[in-house]
Amino acid sequence: MEKKVDWWKKAIVYQIYPLSFKDSNQDGIGDLNGINSQLGYIKNLGVDVIWLSPVYQSPMDDNGYDISDYLSINPIFGTMEEMENLISNIHKRDMKIIMDLVVNHTSDEHQWFIEAKKSKKNPFRDYYIWRDQPNQIESVFSGPAWTYDETTNQYYFHLFSKKQPDLNWQNTELRTKVYRIINYWLDKGIDGFRLDVIDLIGKDIESMKLSDGPYLNQYLEEMYHYCFKGRDIMTVGEMPGLSIERASEITNQEKPLLNMIFQFSHISLDEQPGQGKWVLKKLNLVEFKSVFEKLQKALFEKGWNSLFLTNHDQPRAVSRFGNLSYRKKSSKMLATILYCMQGTPYVYQGEEIGMTGVKYKLSQYKDIETLNMYNEYLKKGLSHEKIMESIYAKGRDNSRTPFQWDDTAYAGFSKVEPWIDVNPNYLEINAKKDLKEDDSIFNYFKELFSIRKKYQVFDYGSFELIYPDHSQLFIYQRTNQNESILVIGSFSDKEIEVDLLKYEKYHCLLSNEDTINLKHAVIPPYYCGIYYTKENHYANH
Ligand code: GLC
Ligand code: CA
Repeated sequence: MEKKVDWWKKAIVYQIYPLSFKDSNQDGIGDLNGINSQLGYIKNLGVDVIWLSPVYQSPMDDNGYDISDYLSINPIFGTMEEMENLISNIHKRDMKIIMDLVVNHTSDEHQWFIEAKKSKKNPFRDYYIWRDQPNQIESVFSGPAWTYDETTNQYYFHLFSKKQPDLNWQNTELRTKVYRIINYWLDKGIDGFRLDVIDLIGKDIESMKLSDGPYLNQYLEEMYHYCFKGRDIMTVGEMPGLSIERASEITNQEKPLLNMIFQFSHISLDEQPGQGKWVLKKLNLVEFKSVFEKLQKALFEKGWNSLFLTNHDQPRAVSRFGNLSYRKKSSKMLATILYCMQGTPYVYQGEEIGMTGVKYKLSQYKDIETLNMYNEYLKKGLSHEKIMESIYAKGRDNSRTPFQWDDTAYAGFSKVEPWIDVNPNYLEINAKKDLKEDDSIFNYFKELFSIRKKYQVFDYGSFELIYPDHSQLFIYQRTNQNESILVIGSFSDKEIEVDLLKYEKYHCLLSNEDTINLKHAVIPPYYCGIYYTKENHYANH
């Protein structure tokens, strides 16, 4: 029996980081009208849903993830009217839009916090978390998670910057207000949310249980009940600290709290376990494959995966997992390996043209996380060179440089100097050039997405790794009752011979260079291919 395939399972999601996508009024900052002017480009890729990073009112301490008013638009991005116009134009093109919901914390410039700070008796005091004495919890952005406030002689809690005080989700009135905000935007006609670090809202400070805390399920159930239930929307929760098992529970479709979540186990493999994201470790492909296998299997039956390698917090995928000497081939290979799995594909702006990371001078970096970490590590005694290595590998600004539209000044992003420097490789790498080339990455992504939509095996086919212990080839098979695909990706710059004779009847649907012969398979460097058969595959085994 074919399972029900909801629209959000089939959807291709494209993430826009508004600061860096397209500047329409020449102030060096991307904006809503800029996005509006490029909807044709996005649609042409085969995108169904746009995820817009925050555009709400904000002092921009963390580039908009510090919200000072949830119900208004930051003037650097545009006006509410322009936002409504954008929503309606996205819908006219038969696409949908989800917004970022940042409700673990607000900005310290939010009216609630301004009030809360005034006195211990203020009606908004309990919307935030206050203590006479801090405990040892540290901020994700370095330093203690507690900041002293003179007016009332107490410390307030912030897991991110001190300009991002955490909301006290245990306060019922606060929760009610958050649900109202959610409903305000849904009533305006948006199609869902990406929920920022939503694994943190159930935290218990005393026991220091932060991610996936004791109240998480209760609050998610409440939110579902008051906001999501009965609406035809999609929800994706960012949950960096969640286990794969819990991911499967939370996305269980018999009792869905969220449609899918961003789970982080596959992107933590190039850091030393327990030492945070900056302490680098070489990626082990066997480990990488086995995490995907675990995710695919755990969420296969009841839950649902989101497929991503990068976003505005992660380095560029091709710089991190591919090989810049094979930039185009390895960009396509990564996309093929990722997007042929079960789940909803996410593309981060620029990924579809193979944009790369940057190696800037310290003074060119803007990201608060990067700069705080730099100062902290310097104090700890690490050398400038050593810290820069981590920034090149992991810094969030790698993905936040302006979108490279063409080879004119500032890459066609703006006519004036942008808020962050353009990657100097824009003459070589830009959308206009890529689209003209025979081996265009954009066109490859487009083809890949249309193939994904065409064959049912992509929706609910099972997942089996082939040669799980091979250290350079990522090969897997997916199968349903009458179709089977074999997906091959090489992470090597050398040719590799491998026995795939069993699959000789499969024919190639798409590959990043000439099809190989599966009878005597020699896999070229960074090769990828999708092979397909319609026969009853069970006969082969
Ligand atoms: C999420 C966002 C990130 C932000 C953080 C705090 O991880 O993706 O950009 O800094 O939450 O809001
Ligand atoms: Ca602008």
